Amino acid sequence: NKKGFIFDLDGVIVDTAKYHYLAWKALANSIGIDFTHIQNEQLKGVSRESSLKKILEWGNKTLSNEEFLKLMSKKNEEYLSYISNMDESEILPDVTKILNYLSQQNQPIALGSASKNSKQILKKVNLLHQFNAIVDGNDVTNAKPDPEVFLKAANRVNIPVEDCVVFEDSVAGIQAANKANMISIGIGEVSVLNEADFVFKDFTQISSEFIEKISKVKKK
Ligand code: G6P
Ligand code: MG
Repeated sequence: NKKGFIFDLDGVIVDTAKYHYLAWKALANSIGIDFTHIQNEQLKGVSRESSLKKILEWGNKTLSNEEFLKLMSKKNEEYLSYISNMDESEILPDVTKILNYLSQQNQPIALGSASKNSKQILKKVNLLHQFNAIVDGNDVTNAKPDPEVFLKAANRVNIPVEDCVVFEDSVAGIQAANKANMISIGIGEVSVLNEADFVFKDFTQISSEFIEKISKVKKK
């Protein structure tokens, strides 16, 4: 059966959270706000703009619109300097294996990410060619948990939503997949991703038998 397999990027294909952390921390500290790893966790799946809003809230700070935009681009410049050093070694375990497996089976593969840097990142880790469609932060107006990004991805690979499977590491992303009426597969901890239809610690835990099984069922 033809299915649409939609992958989130950050935290699913590569671990960019560490670079987001460094860039947000430098930025927050530069305006006198603390930034911790726990706070960074809460920014997973959250757009750049909403992330800065949250940081300012945590620090009880308000900025002019102009300052806000300046800080967003400053953060991104620093983030991109880390991205520029990425290579294939940063692809998370067995991601390449599952992408190869799916393309051997002729299954459409799409990206559904909140990031506006997704193409640069996929290029750096040499995975751009694996995707039949890329839908990211440049293409949507409503951020996850809104299903827009996944609905657009399904549309681009021409697969009905109930035949789509989403791999996500963030709670907002799982909620978005569920709202889109797609099968949601959490990559991470069950305790965090309990709204997902299935949860795996990482792709090393996902067998080809599971992919075959999932290819035969529809979202209920
Ligand atoms: C992903 C990450 C978030 C990040 C967002 C926007 O969802 O998990 O931490 O803020 O993408 O990324 P960008 O690359 O556009 O700043
Ligand atoms: Mg993610």
